[in-house]
Amino acid sequence: MKKKALIFGITGQDGSYLAELLISKNYTVYGVKRRNSLIQTTRIDHIFKDKHYKSDLVLKYGDVTDSLNVNNLINQIKPDEIYNLAAQSNVGISFEIPEYTAQVDAIGTLRILEAVKSLNMKKVKIYQASTSEMYGNSTDRPYNEKSRFQPVSPYGTAKLYAYWISKNYRDAYNIFISNGILFNHESPRRGENFISRKVVLGLIYVLKGERKCLYIGNLKSKRDWGHAVDYVYAQWLILQQKKPDDFVISTGQNYTVKDLINRVLIKLEIKHKWMKDLNGLEYVIALESKEYIKNKQIIVKQDPSYFRPNEVNNLLGDSTKARRILKWKPKTTFKKLIDEMVEKDLDKY
Ligand code: NAP
Ligand code: GDD
Repeated sequence: MKKKALIFGITGQDGSYLAELLISKNYTVYGVKRRNSLIQTTRIDHIFKDKHYKSDLVLKYGDVTDSLNVNNLINQIKPDEIYNLAAQSNVGISFEIPEYTAQVDAIGTLRILEAVKSLNMKKVKIYQASTSEMYGNSTDRPYNEKSRFQPVSPYGTAKLYAYWISKNYRDAYNIFISNGILFNHESPRRGENFISRKVVLGLIYVLKGERKCLYIGNLKSKRDWGHAVDYVYAQWLILQQKKPDDFVISTGQNYTVKDLINRVLIKLEIKHKWMKDLNGLEYVIALESKEYIKNKQIIVKQDPSYFRPNEVNNLLGDSTKARRILKWKPKTTFKKLIDEMVEKDLDKY
């Protein structure tokens, strides 16, 4: 019998890689897509185009803000594994739409748990996409499964509710649900308004003359950046355990946003220099002409409108537990990750 997996959030970065992984492991994958005015399945369309795979992927319309829909999907599909990746996942945007973020990221998880509880599905295993954002600016770095949580954004706070309600239902009703506390992970499929992809795409547009300058916010924050392909493998491993548990997934190395910009500039072979204006805002000038960039052109500039009302300054993970129990470790370095992102976007361009 083929295993059945149900992925909420299949059209996202992680959902698309996870679908590929599960199909390669002989699962039938059911994915939940939202109704949008334009079809938003570009990250998974290639799976349907491959005749070997297309019968292994079934898409259903749905939304984790709709209890009836969540209940019906779980009841009809009767999955062996549920991956709850559905989220309004942008931290900056969560300050602008905090209530919606809570509806999806916090109560969405509760809806899935209530469906599984009320349907009395004893065997299903659930993965909850928890996040390093829950640590906020807590001081006991590097963060592991025992570190304190102090979220500083509507997103982080909503995700902390989802984390705790998952543990509550695990203890109270014996539901198999595990939290993966994942640190930032990127890929060529990353959404365009996260910093890694924004910088890669933005600087390619500057190089090709489609844009004069890339505008960004905080340069000093540090992130522990890994590759999404390595991280979805950890998600699957977490559900292959005999008992539900919580795991930090991280590389153990972190870099500033400025490091990230420098890495992209190096990969694009753009000689450059950082400068500061009278207000202390930093900017980058090109040190020679290249393609559509002129010598001394300002190609990157800080714009305060991208600063967040609250910032998580320094995320660094300790994934010792995952390395020991899951035998998981990241395969991709920061340099390799950024280089791959630049190469893929240059190819597409
Ligand atoms: P993503 O690219 O933003 O994908 C989010 C997915 O959720 C998309 O498929 C999106 O659908 C779907 N979604 C949004 N609202 C929904 C709703 N109301 N009902 C059903 N589906 C909905 O995020 P990701 O980077 O793949 O991350 C996957 C999960 O891991 C998220 O829960 C995120 O919060 C969490 N996480 C991510 C990271 C990271 O660094 N990437 C780290 C830790 C935790 P549309 O395509 O229609 O928008
Ligand atoms: N998005 C964005 N856009 N971020 C910027 C910008 C900008 O123009 N300029 C500076 N930054 C800074 C942010 O302030 C933050 O400190 C850092 O770059 C990373 O921002 P994002 O790439 O948006 O990611 P994030 O760390 O806020 O959240 C991501 O990682 C979390 C795990 O730690 C998301 O994927 C979350 O869903 C995930 O839970």
